[in-house]
Amino acid sequence: MCGIVGYIGERDAVSVLIESLKKLEYRGYDSAGLALLDGKGKSCVFKTEGEISRLESILPELPARIGIGHTRWATHGKPNTINAHPHVSGSISVVHNGIIENYLELKESLESEGFVFVSDTDTEVLAHLINKYYLKNPGDLAIAIRSALGEVRGSYALSVLSEEHPHELIAARKDSPLILGLGEHENFIASDIPAILKYTNRVIYMENLEMVRVKRDSVQVFDLDGNPRFKEEHIIPWNLEAAEKAGYPHFMLKEIHEQTNSIHETLAGRLQELEGDVIFDELDLDKEQIQNIHRIEIIACGTSFNAGLLGKYLFEGLTGIHTDVDNGSEFRYSNPVLTPSTLVIAITQSGETADTLAAVREATSYGCTTLAITNVVGSTISREASNIIYTRAGPEIGVAATKSFISQLVVLYLLVIHFARARSMMDADRVGKLLSELRKIPGHVSRILEDKENIQKCASRFAESKDYFFIGRNINYPIALEGALKLKEISYIHAEGYAAGELKHGPLALISEDVPVVAIAPQGHTYDKILSNIKEVKSRDASVIAIADSDDGEIAKYVDVVLTVPKTDFILTPLLTTVVVQLLAYYTALERNCSIDKPRNLAKSVTVE
Ligand code: M6R
Repeated sequence: MCGIVGYIGERDAVSVLIESLKKLEYRGYDSAGLALLDGKGKSCVFKTEGEISRLESILPELPARIGIGHTRWATHGKPNTINAHPHVSGSISVVHNGIIENYLELKESLESEGFVFVSDTDTEVLAHLINKYYLKNPGDLAIAIRSALGEVRGSYALSVLSEEHPHELIAARKDSPLILGLGEHENFIASDIPAILKYTNRVIYMENLEMVRVKRDSVQVFDLDGNPRFKEEHIIPWNLEAAEKAGYPHFMLKEIHEQTNSIHETLAGRLQELEGDVIFDELDLDKEQIQNIHRIEIIACGTSFNAGLLGKYLFEGLTGIHTDVDNGSEFRYSNPVLTPSTLVIAITQSGETADTLAAVREATSYGCTTLAITNVVGSTISREASNIIYTRAGPEIGVAATKSFISQLVVLYLLVIHFARARSMMDADRVGKLLSELRKIPGHVSRILEDKENIQKCASRFAESKDYFFIGRNINYPIALEGALKLKEISYIHAEGYAAGELKHGPLALISEDVPVVAIAPQGHTYDKILSNIKEVKSRDASVIAIADSDDGEIAKYVDVVLTVPKTDFILTPLLTTVVVQLLAYYTALERNCSIDKPRNLAKSVTVE
């Protein structure tokens, strides 16, 4: 996730672009850059590693009235100056947000035609590809961009500046957000509304596969075949502060909603339904090495630990590899039984959690292969583990992990499928079906979000409770733990997550009419078992909130509230039940007037022991 901006008008382009980029820093801030046309129409590019304030400090005075800018959140290539945007080819400068999935094949073919690449990014292929078509048919920049986009697979919001066309900017979008800001003798391009709100509240929302020619006094929108599109202008009623949260009252709610997109990003370019496999270009483990893994040790803390626990069920169930999960803080002081055939997987959204890092160092000292699953490119763990998989969830601001968790789960599903194929534990047909179900998950998440009023109603009904229980079985037991963690973290209600079958071994003594029990109960091989557990707590007068499949006609007879999730393959249900427990925690905290994005005593990244 990155931020892009563009400006053409009568103001000082440098300060407009810098101000606008600062409002998009929530989308990424590991490097930044600008491309401008100076007073003589000459193209100038400035970029640097680090935050926008650093870029600002290297900019000279420049009489520019047109330019594009970018703040980066690295997905391909380290966060350094060379990989920062804009990327340049000939007279063309490009800023891009998204992922070009077929960039390696495009890069190979462009290199064979003589184009020279300087960065490790996927975006640089866009600059060369556009330039290639422009050189073939000079005169119309939009046509060159259209031809280039015809060859590209993946997602993009991009903006292009060319010194051959000093009076226009071209922008286009597919699966990444893009808006236009309209002014008097000036117009703006941006990834999100906060970027332009200081200058105008008149916007046009660009749709997928649309392109726009932006001039000082006009914007013309086309589809990718060049047919004009009529676009409605909207007036934004928010103030600047609300706009940074895109109109949501809290980052947590915004990030819960962003999960439809973050799942999509995590999957991008990794699914091969036809071949029935998953590809991880970044993984340095061949088939033979995967076959030789005897044990997996997963290390993580907090929410990432809960993802790891789901990983244990999946690895053991689908690949037959014995898997353990440990907290980083425990693992580092245990005497772990590790051998070189143990694969150590560290899960950490920040990549900076001190306990997880220490555990990885410990594992490395035993000669184990390590694999980190993290959200932050360039984080400490990405430099220390021997393999890295990025979750690509985009920056997460709320202390409560939401979209980073769901993306961790998605990576684990993909990794397990990849291992199961390498070890001949799943056939291509089963994998193909599972992958196409996975593709439907973002749509199912949207359905749950549409039904959030029901979850909110349920949250307010039980918001004054002193204690809460979350129970689940098998692959939904980790989600019971996650539901309890989310609730206690942001609403300060005491909550316990339990494997449902364990209740009768002690915690049942705490169940009474004042204790709501959330039972995560999609239909699967443990459904009847959890129904029995529901009856156990019901007969002790607890109120039961069931999270169940939308086609479950039975469960309502036994419980007080049913919150539904769309039907999917049982094995994928944690991706949906997670969203319900997140929203339940969010609305409970809202009802209790808690500090949702910054809960007391906690920090986003725990870099101390
Ligand atoms: O950055 P990490 O994933 O390593 O962080 C681990 C925990 O501190 C973190 O998951 C924490 O539990 C969450 N903020 C809970 O929402």
